[in-house]
Amino acid sequence: MSELKNDRFLRALSKQAVDVTPVWMMRQAGRYLPEYRASRSKAGDFMSLCMNPQFACEVTMQPLDRYPLLDAAILFSDILTIPDAMGLGLYFETGEGPRFKKTVRTAADVDALPIPDPHKDLGYVMDAVSTIRRELNGRVPLIGFSGSPWTLATYMVEGGSSKDFRLAKALAFNSPELMHALLDKLAQSVTSYLNAQINAGAQAVQIFDTWGGALSHNAYREFSLAYMQKIVDGLVREKDGRAVPVILFTKNGGQWLESIAATGATALGLDWTTDIGEARRRVGGKVALQGNMDPTMLYASPQRIRQEVATILESYGHGSGHIFNLGHGITPEVDPEHARVFIESVHELSDKYHR
Ligand code: CP3
Repeated sequence: MSELKNDRFLRALSKQAVDVTPVWMMRQAGRYLPEYRASRSKAGDFMSLCMNPQFACEVTMQPLDRYPLLDAAILFSDILTIPDAMGLGLYFETGEGPRFKKTVRTAADVDALPIPDPHKDLGYVMDAVSTIRRELNGRVPLIGFSGSPWTLATYMVEGGSSKDFRLAKALAFNSPELMHALLDKLAQSVTSYLNAQINAGAQAVQIFDTWGGALSHNAYREFSLAYMQKIVDGLVREKDGRAVPVILFTKNGGQWLESIAATGATALGLDWTTDIGEARRRVGGKVALQGNMDPTMLYASPQRIRQEVATILESYGHGSGHIFNLGHGITPEVDPEHARVFIESVHELSDKYHR
């Protein structure tokens, strides 16, 4: 494997000195880019992009080619590949978001779920990882990812997206043993899926716990954090002589940072509702922090975006351990030139915090 030419992202994760704060964006390959929309219509649809390693590689590279200052690549795929590989039949209805042909609501449904073999059942993802690594040729590190067990379970029980998680929460509250059996299968599946991504070439992994923050204080520990803990305990943490960092991102999890940091994760992803300086005072001794500009700020003027980047950098303060990102994925209507202002401002305004 080729030497990394830009290892700022990995250095910041292990709090080694950096020249400027590294930056990437969740959903950086996506619909706000015209070149992404062109690739998607060439492939036919979103899932065909994910399932064809050449297309997945092509769209992973698009934001890096457009914005040479990006410090990391993220595998182009989706968190719902695991439930699809478990036989639920994932499809996307335009404008409707993800849907499953089958749902998981009974003991028989849970019992019937296989634990996917990452090479046999998700081989297209592993092929995408190795294809992207080859194409990157050491330019920046590649991030692999998965959904958290709880977040995946919400989609599997509801059959798609949900506003209130009525069915998934009712299942957890009425039949906790059933929800635990489902989460346990998902934790095993996610662990072997992420380890396979690491073995195929992912140099860091992120767990997207998008809906953990919809749970109550106690339910978060019981149904989300406990299973992320199992995953962290089961992951390969070193490869080719280098640490493989694990980033846990619980959206709306700002009130639980100490507990999340106690899992042994390398870094915590923060959404924009948490002050990053305060988060650093709370858990900065234990973990690195990733985030956390409100993605909606990208609809504001370039001057306002720069000002917000400056505010977040100042809040984090001096020294390493910060990976700049948005507090959630970039949205389809963003002007790509505003994303450029965001990325360039991070490097331009952060060097004084590293001298
Ligand atoms: O960050 C990246 O650039 C990597 C790619 C990535 C995608 N999805 C591509 C995608 C990642 C990391 C995800 C994760 C994901 N997928 C999450 C967790 C992160 C988050 O944003 O909270 C969730 C909840 C999903 C499930 C999912 N997939 C949803 C809710 C949607 C959007 C549906 C819609 O129409 O708005 C998707 C589709 C999806 N995943 C798209 C992309 C680029 C858009 C699909 C398209 O091109 O039509």
